[in-house]
Amino acid sequence: MSEACSIAHPNIALSKYWGKRPGGGNFPAVPSLSVTLAGLETRTRVRFDSSLQQDRIVLNGERADAGTEARTSELLDRVRRASGEERHAEVRTRNDFPTASGLASSASGFAALALAATRAAGLSWSASQVSDLARRSSASAARSLFDGFVELPAGPADLGEGGAHEDVVLSARSLAPAGHLALTVLVCVTTEARKAIGSSEGMRRTMAASPYAQAWVEEAPRIHARLRDALLARDFVAVGELAEASALAMHASAIAAGVIYWTGATLDALAAVRSLRAAGTQAFATVDAGPHVKVLARASEAARVRDAMRAAPGVERVIEARPGEGARLVDEVIT
Ligand code: PMV
Repeated sequence: MSEACSIAHPNIALSKYWGKRPGGGNFPAVPSLSVTLAGLETRTRVRFDSSLQQDRIVLNGERADAGTEARTSELLDRVRRASGEERHAEVRTRNDFPTASGLASSASGFAALALAATRAAGLSWSASQVSDLARRSSASAARSLFDGFVELPAGPADLGEGGAHEDVVLSARSLAPAGHLALTVLVCVTTEARKAIGSSEGMRRTMAASPYAQAWVEEAPRIHARLRDALLARDFVAVGELAEASALAMHASAIAAGVIYWTGATLDALAAVRSLRAAGTQAFATVDAGPHVKVLARASEAARVRDAMRAAPGVERVIEARPGEGARLVDEVIT
């Protein structure tokens, strides 16, 4: 077989990954815990073809930019090395939500790509092996291979310098199935534009220049451990409080280095979430490397929270998502 199709969903980190281990290899400096989201999706088709002189990447119907093409080819090179496949590939991929604006398109994108590319090259890898491959391109993508609630541990602390990390494996793992907690994630889209600072660059600047980088790296595992316990105990309020604490601590460390993803609309949406809580509705916010606010609500209160967030100034639209499936192969996709 030289062609395969896949579907993957983005995931939203409840406890955030921000910062990489030094020494290369794209290993996270902190553990993270996410929920894979049904309701938004990436569809990808990979075809190895001897008539191609180079890899060809078509994203949302258009030729991808040079940076996206280089990151995609890097993953395809790993697949070619592992499989013996020598041909170049055409990758056609489509997101049904804004690309590269802090809505985790790299997570679903690289998860879908890793799965379709390994299969198209004839490799029958486990989800864990595909997760490790996706993690090398985008650590958050490692989590989108799995259903429901997913954990990605921090990378090893003693990697050393100089490329010895190619053999070190780090995969995400499933913590609880999608039905474990009756949660709705309301993705409040504040702009459709691409973000100014990519997440890798934002992390690099934070680690290099933030006076709070070390505090974040020390605090994140503590928040993560408490959030994991709260999740396993199905304690929605504690999960929400800790998720909000994780996002605020991550952004505090980034902002101190001048890495500011928030806009006025982000602050207005955060205020709307606080107003909901003051009025007795348990809703909690998280923010990734972009201006959008994702609101965690009990499924039973989702409609009320959605209406309140739609009314917040600067919120253009609200996408309703719930815990969903991991990445999977499909027979056919329209890209
Ligand atoms: O894996 P990346 O490079 O897309 O970085 C993800 C960073 C955050 O979305 C902000 C946090 C996370 O854990 O997903």
